[in-house]
Amino acid sequence: MAETLILTEGADRRAKYYELLPQLMALTAHEPNAVANMSNICSALRMAFGFFWVGFYLVDGDELVLGPFQGDIACTRITKGRGVCGTAWQQARSILVPDVELFDGHIACSSLSRSEVVVPIMRDGEVVGVIDVDSDQVNDFTQADVEGLEQVAQLVVSWL
Ligand code: SME
Repeated sequence: MAETLILTEGADRRAKYYELLPQLMALTAHEPNAVANMSNICSALRMAFGFFWVGFYLVDGDELVLGPFQGDIACTRITKGRGVCGTAWQQARSILVPDVELFDGHIACSSLSRSEVVVPIMRDGEVVGVIDVDSDQVNDFTQADVEGLEQVAQLVVSWL
């Protein structure tokens, strides 16, 4: 298995997602275990983009429970409808938060988090989890992140 990612230096985010996705597919192609694959995907996303925090929350009853992640210690359970993650779950849509201080109900797992993007992982029309990415910079995410992460979510659902 390759230990490095091949990404064009200086490429913008959209181009990097384009380069990264086939490498994530190759990285996970022969491994059916969801935890192993989600763990490597977190690491790859952090290596590629230097994200402050990147991880998975998975639906467990009426809560999300923390899954594989890279970054600081995070809250383990989030109720449906709470925070950015619980809202993305409830509304079954991606949410881009340019400034977390302006999102009513944002859950601050880290006081250093400044902006955030959450995309749902959908199976048969139901949300089964979310991908959450945090930045320590305000306004760090664009639609390129939403679309790139939504493609990652489509890959992940095959193991859940
Ligand atoms: N900020 C998230 C909680 C998860 S942490 O960012 C890792 C939220 O508001 O749902």
